[in-house]
Amino acid sequence: MADPADGVRAGDGPVDLRSDTVTRPTAGMREAMATAEVGDDVYGEDPTVTALEAEVAALFGHEAALFAPTGSMANQIALQLVVPAGDELLCDADAHIVTYEIGAAAAYGGISSRTWPAVGAEVDPDAVAGMVRPDGYFAVPTRAIAVEQTHNRGGGGVIPLATLRELRRVADDNGLALHCDGARIWHAHVADGVPLIEYGRLFDTLSVCLSKGLGAPVGSLVVGSAEKIARARFLRKRMGGGMRQVGVLAAAGRYALAHHVERLAADHAKAARLAEAVAPYGVLAGPVRTNIVPLDLTKHPLDAKALAAAARAEGVLVSVLGPRTARLVTHLDVDDAAIDRAAKTLTHILRA
Ligand SMILES: Cc1ncc(COP(=O)(O)O)c(C=O)c1O
Repeated sequence: MADPADGVRAGDGPVDLRSDTVTRPTAGMREAMATAEVGDDVYGEDPTVTALEAEVAALFGHEAALFAPTGSMANQIALQLVVPAGDELLCDADAHIVTYEIGAAAAYGGISSRTWPAVGAEVDPDAVAGMVRPDGYFAVPTRAIAVEQTHNRGGGGVIPLATLRELRRVADDNGLALHCDGARIWHAHVADGVPLIEYGRLFDTLSVCLSKGLGAPVGSLVVGSAEKIARARFLRKRMGGGMRQVGVLAAAGRYALAHHVERLAADHAKAARLAEAVAPYGVLAGPVRTNIVPLDLTKHPLDAKALAAAARAEGVLVSVLGPRTARLVTHLDVDDAAIDRAAKTLTHILRA
C-alpha cells in the first residue's frame, strides 16, 4: 500500500540523489513508531522487535533473524558466524564489506578477505570456484563466499537467480558458506520478480537493511538458522549492539516492510528516467536495473567533483565515488517533480 506522504515531500529544497539512506520517516511511519509497544530487548522482552525478527525470518524462509543497528554490523556478525578467525572470505573487490566497513572483518573477526575483480554486479561462479583454497595445507582455508544483492558500487545491478544457484553449487561442492549482503535485496526482488524466500533458501546467512530504499531511519537484520542467530545475539552484544526499548525503531521497520517494498518499482522508474536524460552525454556507466544510476565521466570534460559542485550550486546533490565516477540514487523522498528538476539541471550541466 502506498504511503500517503510518499512523493509529495521534495518541495523546493535540494533534490538529494546522493543515497537512499537520506530518507526521513513518513508521517505514517512516525505514527507507528510513536505507538509501538516496547520492552528491554537485551532481556528479549521487546514485543515489536520480536515480531519484526519473526516476520523477516519468515520472509526469507529461515528459522530466525536478529535486529541490528546497522547493515555493517549485520554483515560483520554474519561473517563471524561463518568464518573462524584466521580463515578466509571471498568476495568482489567493490563489495561494501571490503570497501566501506573500515576493515571490520579483519579488526573484529580476524577474517582474511580475498577478492575477485569487480565488474558491476557480475559474478563468474567458475572463477570463484577457482579461487577456493582447501583446508589441510599451509594456506589460508576458504570458509565463505559473500555477494551483494543489489550491488551498490556495481550500479544497483542485480545478480540473476541462475548465477546465485551456481554459486550455491560452488559453495556446496567446497563445503563453504554463502552470505548475502542484501542491504537492497528488496530492489532485486522487485526488479527481477524473484520471491524473497527463493533468495533466502540459497544463502546460509543474509543481512538485510530497512534503512536504505525501505525508508526506515535505522535498522538491519541478520537472517539464518536458529543456532546461528543464537550465536549472533551473543556477537551483537559483544560488539556493543545490544539495544533496549528499540521497538520504536523496529516499528519503523515493520511499517516499511508493509508499505514500502512494492513501491520500489516507482524508484526504479525514476532512476530509468534520470538515466534516459543523461545517456545522450555519454556518461552512463552501465544499464540501470534498480534505483542507482552509475555515472562514468572518463569521456566527459567535467570530472566527478566538478559535476557534483555544479549540481549542488543548482540544488541537486550527487555522490562522488571516484575521480571520474559518480552516482544518482532515487528513493522515497524524491517525487516525480524533483526528478524532472534534477534531469533538467544535470542535462544543462552536462551539455555545457
Ligand atoms: C550494500 C550495502 N551493504 C551494507 C551497507 C551498510 O549499511 P549501514 O550504513 O547501515 O552500516 C550499505 C550502506 O549503504 C550498503 O550499501
